[in-house]
Amino acid sequence: MPDDHKLTSPAPLPLIAARPKAPLGGKVAVPGDKSISHRALMFGALAVGRTEISGLLEGEDVLATAAALRALGAGIERTSDRRWLVDGVGLGGLGEPGDVIDLGNSGTAARLLLGILATHPFTAFVTGDASLRSRPMRRVTEPLSRFGAHFATREGGRLPLAVTGATSPVPQEYRLPVPSAQVKSAVLLAGLNTPGATSVIETTPSRDHTERMLGHFGATVTIEPEGNGGRRVTVEGQPELVAAPITVPGDPSSAAFPLVAALIVPGSEVTISNVGLNPSRTGLLSSLREMGADIALVDERSEGGEPVADLLVRAGSLTGADIPPERAPSMIDEYPILAVAAACARGRTVMRGLAELRVKESDRLAGIAEGLAACGVKVAIEGDDLIVDGDGGPPRGAALIATRLDHRMAMAFLVLGLAAREPVQIDDARPIPTSFPDFVPLMTRLGASFVEVR
Ligand code: S3P
Repeated sequence: MPDDHKLTSPAPLPLIAARPKAPLGGKVAVPGDKSISHRALMFGALAVGRTEISGLLEGEDVLATAAALRALGAGIERTSDRRWLVDGVGLGGLGEPGDVIDLGNSGTAARLLLGILATHPFTAFVTGDASLRSRPMRRVTEPLSRFGAHFATREGGRLPLAVTGATSPVPQEYRLPVPSAQVKSAVLLAGLNTPGATSVIETTPSRDHTERMLGHFGATVTIEPEGNGGRRVTVEGQPELVAAPITVPGDPSSAAFPLVAALIVPGSEVTISNVGLNPSRTGLLSSLREMGADIALVDERSEGGEPVADLLVRAGSLTGADIPPERAPSMIDEYPILAVAAACARGRTVMRGLAELRVKESDRLAGIAEGLAACGVKVAIEGDDLIVDGDGGPPRGAALIATRLDHRMAMAFLVLGLAAREPVQIDDARPIPTSFPDFVPLMTRLGASFVEVR
């Protein structure tokens, strides 16, 4: 079993997952929600006063956001008991950074921060790792230019880029061309420091943490139904944002890995405590239940304005299901692990409308299909749909999976290795701390067996 610190080693860290000798069991808590953690730091930096955050995800993505906000002038420190204190500069109070801002692997950090920078009148240079530098940024630079911001980007609208924020920003009404909470949030954050009302219209609702947190920090946000199931979100610009304490719930996207592991390793019974159950994030839960999963919600409660519960998960047989495209935004990060569950289920699972998976930390649509096929699973891509045919038994495994700087692909295929007949090797476990620094020790505590390749 590798030590945690080895995940930060300079050389790739191949890891093998094999069937454990006994079922998985026990109770674990997953780290804080990544989406909420980024936003808590950003809103704290823009507010007047000191914001205290507990449960912040201390993953590399969120640490990149903290470093960026410090470079822009916010005071951010971690206490010895893992609370984070953010001394905000007040809306419009961020200043020119003295160096290039490097956001590592984080698309959320990049897109949301560009929204903030678009209405701060100075120039900043932004870059990221090879994965982030390959991801589309035009989806934010295009609407943010309408506020009056200027961008100089690499070919194809990619990072590195320079942004010069608008001096006299103009409020916008923007209809999202892609269902993306990141794009929605970028536009709302630009609208925050713009006089007048800025609206974003989304045809399929995406995660609403930005809207909730705007209200929590004292901004006026209205959410109205629009068209067939869509929403119009409007923020009144230039409010007084006031520091407000935040408790970050456990990340449902991280809980997904021990959850599916418990479902597919026969005989397992696992409790995952304090999991965020915001309805805009529960698509995986609905899908797994349709497949016959035994998942009980225990002690449902509200923490820091977000619904949470403990999940009691018991292994059992799963059957294939048809996952509709409109569910994708509520489980967009969970398709790699859902596909692993589908590979262990009996019958066909069709996951529809997955075009956005092509522009995640890696091309997940291709990566899932290649990885499952290498493990002996019958899998196909038809248009934007992924089709997995399971025979109800454990997949063969015995494959080496290329994770392509993608934390969720790495974790999903390690979970598959826990159920497969033969071990599964991933080429590099180092991306995992992007979102889930304790993944290996936590899974090991449940009884998983991961072996380092020498
Ligand atoms: C996120 C939104 C999603 C998700 C990402 C986090 C967010 O991206 O994939 O991990 O915090 O807003 P898109 O909004 O681009 O789909």
